Amino acid sequence: MRIGIVGYGTIGKATASIFPEFVVYDPYKGYPDVGLLGQCDVVFVCVPTPTIVDKQDLSIVKRSLVEIGPALQPGRVIAIRSTVLPGTTLRLQKEYPHLILAANPEFLRSHRAMDDAREPFRIVIGAEHPQARRLLVDAYRESMAVDVNRRLILTDSVTAELIKYAANCYLAMKISYFNEMYDICQGLGADYETLRTALGMDIRIASGEETTVDPRSRGFDDECLPKDLDAFIGFLLEKRASATMFQGTAEVNNQVRSKPKREEVEA
Ligand SMILES: NC(=O)c1ccc[n+]([C@@H]2O[C@H](COP(=O)([O-])OP(=O)(O)OC[C@H]3O[C@@H](n4cnc5c(N)ncnc54)[C@H](O)[C@@H]3O)[C@@H](O)[C@H]2O)c1
Repeated sequence: MRIGIVGYGTIGKATASIFPEFVVYDPYKGYPDVGLLGQCDVVFVCVPTPTIVDKQDLSIVKRSLVEIGPALQPGRVIAIRSTVLPGTTLRLQKEYPHLILAANPEFLRSHRAMDDAREPFRIVIGAEHPQARRLLVDAYRESMAVDVNRRLILTDSVTAELIKYAANCYLAMKISYFNEMYDICQGLGADYETLRTALGMDIRIASGEETTVDPRSRGFDDECLPKDLDAFIGFLLEKRASATMFQGTAEVNNQVRSKPKREEVEA
């Protein structure tokens, strides 16, 4: 299958590494020839989606669709790997009716990008169009060494987009939870590492890097969790939905990040 990659950064390179052959369009990284995408069956869009004051900025995704759209043959599939809010793929599909769009979020950890891309926890394909479902499932089945069927979640685009936010907001919540627990340990004179080990022995809680608390660098400050959490809170509030859990997660993170010194908690 002929594969195109749009945006050759962390996600673009990791996605490309799954496939034996691919072409790239990223004019900012020395891949300016959009015509190369002309013969592609599936094009993965891996461009940034920043959050600006609690609102997702989709302008880069839209610009990339405008740039690549004319190069593509009718019936070709565009899979949005970028993290986009629920409903985005459906809206973009209406704006660009000549393209077939699908949501195909990526869940990798940036410090293990290539390994996670080739051995993902899950492969989520959200598509309304049967052609998109078929081509994307075939693309992964043809190229991945792992058993795709066991990791595949095939669903609609809104659910696929929401799965990405559900995962990242959960990870953020887990970090905030363990940071708050760390402060409680400090206040009580309890041993955080023992508590962490004990909780990690329970598969319902489980361990993981989110439970590590580094007193010199508290909370989360990576390129994804803060922006995705803020965008999701803004999205929920705009819909007048409850965002209590997510706001609490952000508030704890702000607190622990702004207080590098241990705060005493009364026993
Ligand atoms: N980095 C991560 O760990 C991670 C994990 C999961 C999901 N994501 C999501 O994936 C998306 C991409 O993130 P990233 O970390 O790969 O970003 P990145 O900044 O590493 O790479 C983005 C690339 O897109 C290119 N680009 C910008 N405009 C373009 C255009 N019009 N046409 C073609 N290329 C264009 C840039 O030159 C850059 O190379 C974001 O939505 C992000 O939230 C990132």
